[in-house]
This record gives sequence, structure tokens and C-alpha cells, in this order.
Amino acid sequence: MIPASRLALTTALLWFLAASLVGLLLGLGLLPYTWRPAHAHMQLLGFVSLMIYGVAYHALPRFRGVVFRRPGLALFQVLLANLGLLGMVLAWGLGLGIHVWGFFAFLSLVAGSLFVLLMLEVLWG
Ligand code: HEM
Ligand code: HEM
Repeated sequence: MIPASRLALTTALLWFLAASLVGLLLGLGLLPYTWRPAHAHMQLLGFVSLMIYGVAYHALPRFRGVVFRRPGLALFQVLLANLGLLGMVLAWGLGLGIHVWGFFAFLSLVAGSLFVLLMLEVLWG
């Protein structure tokens, strides 16, 4: 397993724990409602998407029968996805403002786009 897969799967599990804790506190009214989109994206960009990244980096080259040529770029992609999400979550939850949120949301978008390009290269390259 390449480091990108391992890091993606590990952080997916950690996001799942953190997101579920935030969901619980949100439901109990111990966290304000600004944490609702934070919770939703911790689950969907954190748990679900990172789990998909981790499995896809491992499985797709094998389905295609090729060697994955860009493990370093994949690791960078996973780090960027985590950084972007962390910033989005804190900006949403703590109300850090649209500019901070927008900067990190842009990083998340770049990370997502990079994943798409890497996987398209595996599928068609
Ligand atoms: C222990 C587990 C969880 C708890 C305690 C929890 C709790 C909550 C709470 C309290 C809300 C706010 C509901 C409201 O609007 O009043 C919420 C929203 C949401 N949760 Fe969770 N949740 C959990 C797991 C998950 C999981 C596993 C996912 C997805 C993989 C998820 C996705 C979402 C989404 C997308 C929303 C926003 C829904 C909307 O826009 O109306 N949650 N959750
Ligand atoms: C770059 C990535 C993403 C950005 C910048 C983004 C941005 C946003 C924004 C601004 C909202 C409205 C939040 C609000 O109610 O104030 C939202 C809601 C939502 N997004 Fe995303 N999103 C991203 C990725 C995703 C992904 C990958 C999923 C699902 C797999 C997703 C599912 C949802 C859902 C279910 C809601 C409604 C949840 C709620 O209102 O709390 N998003 N998103």
C-alpha cells in the first residue's frame, strides 16, 4: 500500500470519529448550529471522500493492471485534502469569515480536482 492510501484511510477514520463527536454535541445543543455544515463535511469530505481516495489509489491501478506512477503527487493530494477540510471546518464552526473559509474551500477544490486527474490518468493513460 502506498503512503497516500495509508494516510487517506487513517485520516478518514479519524475524521469519522471527530465528525460523529461533533454531531453528537451538535444534537445535544452543546455546539452552536454553525457546526452543522462543519459536521456534514467532516463526514462527507473527511470520512467518505478520504476513504474513497485511499481505496481508489490502491485499487484502480490494479483494476487497470498498471503501476501507479505518481505516489508522491497522491500523497500531496491527501495532505492538501486534509488541510483544506480542516480550514473549512474551523472557519464554519468558529465563524472565521468568508475569506478564510473561501481560501480553504479552494484548497479542497484543488485537492478534489487533483484526485480526479490522477485517477483519469490511471484509467486512460
Ligand atoms: C454518531 C453519528 C452522528 C451524529 C450524532 C450526527 C448528528 C447530526 C446532527 C445533530 C445533525 C444536525 C441535524 C439538524 O439539522 O438539526 C446532523 C446533520 C448532518 N449529518 Fe450527521 N450525525 C452522525 C453521523 C453522520 C454520518 C455518518 C454522516 C454521513 C456520512 C452524517 C451526515 C450529516 C449531514 C450531511 C448532515 C446535514 C444534513 C442537512 O443538511 O440537513 N452524519 N448530524
Ligand atoms: C470543495 C468541496 C466542497 C465545498 C467547497 C462545499 C461547500 C458547501 C457549502 C458552501 C454548503 C452550504 C453550507 C451551509 O448550509 O451553509 C454545502 C452544503 C452541503 N454539501 Fe458541500 N461542499 C463541498 C463538498 C461536498 C461533498 C464532497 C459532499 C458530499 C459527498 C457535500 C455535501 C453537502 C451537503 C449534504 C450539504 C448540505 C449540508 C448542510 O447544509 O449542512 N459537499 N457545501
